[in-house]
Amino acid sequence: MVKDKIAIITGAARGIGFAIARRFAGEGATVIIIDLAQDAVDEAVAQLTTDGFSAAGYAGNVVNGEQMAEIFKTIHARFGAIDILINNAGITRDGLIMKMKESDWDAVIAVNLKGTFICTQKVSRYMMKQRHGVILNIASVIGLMGNSGQANYAASKGGIIALTKSTAKELASRNIRANAIAPGFIRTPMTDTLKPEVVESYAKAIPLSRMGEAVDVANTCLFLASDLASYITGQTIQVDGGLIM
Ligand SMILES: NC(=O)c1ccc[n+]([C@@H]2O[C@H](COP(=O)([O-])OP(=O)(O)OC[C@H]3O[C@@H](n4cnc5c(N)ncnc54)[C@H](O)[C@@H]3O)[C@@H](O)[C@H]2O)c1
Repeated sequence: MVKDKIAIITGAARGIGFAIARRFAGEGATVIIIDLAQDAVDEAVAQLTTDGFSAAGYAGNVVNGEQMAEIFKTIHARFGAIDILINNAGITRDGLIMKMKESDWDAVIAVNLKGTFICTQKVSRYMMKQRHGVILNIASVIGLMGNSGQANYAASKGGIIALTKSTAKELASRNIRANAIAPGFIRTPMTDTLKPEVVESYAKAIPLSRMGEAVDVANTCLFLASDLASYITGQTIQVDGGLIM
């Protein structure tokens, strides 16, 4: 489905991003991991190449426009195309609105929303020239339903959904599709810190009665990145076990 495609995934040294990288690599894509720390990037790339997959990686911060432009230029020169961009890098800095520090608001909006914009802007340059491409943005069900204690995160993810629709409208004429994925509660290092009773209470609210796995998100990304989804753009696909409907 994505054989021989060049796929860049941000925040892919671990968690959902790494699961996406592994799934795409398993289907024959060349995956390029971008994450903050060089050693974490190297380790993730080594795990994939040891398994016989085609992978490369670059250390970078999605908020740094100049750095990201340089990285994408290097990737394009090295691989000759950028077929798929998955904006997955994301952070949380939870707190009630009354107590939230402005720096925590700014950090979450910067990484989650501005980072998605920056990577989309820099990569779409190459996609527009080659007249094809797929952009997938990892949002969250929190961006659809809001959450107490996550005003910054909810606003960033709601913003990503609106950004995705604008991207889809602007780039459709160049044969570039853009869709958002809204995961529910997925088992990753980001959610491993939750107390067991919290996980249990979440699971009770989910019709499929379990937290999701990172591969559930990766499978949806694979479908949306492939030609099977060639008539789907500007959509937000929930991967949440039926949590909200
Ligand atoms: N885990 C969940 O339940 C869940 C649910 C909905 C949405 N999501 C979203 O999925 C994405 C991945 O989440 P995860 O659970 O795998 O998180 P994670 O914390 O395990 O992984 C996030 C990765 O992003 C990287 N990162 C953070 N800031 C970055 C930056 N400025 N530049 C580059 N890389 C950066 C981190 O180093 C880390 O490797 C996030 O966007 C998150 O909001 C997760």
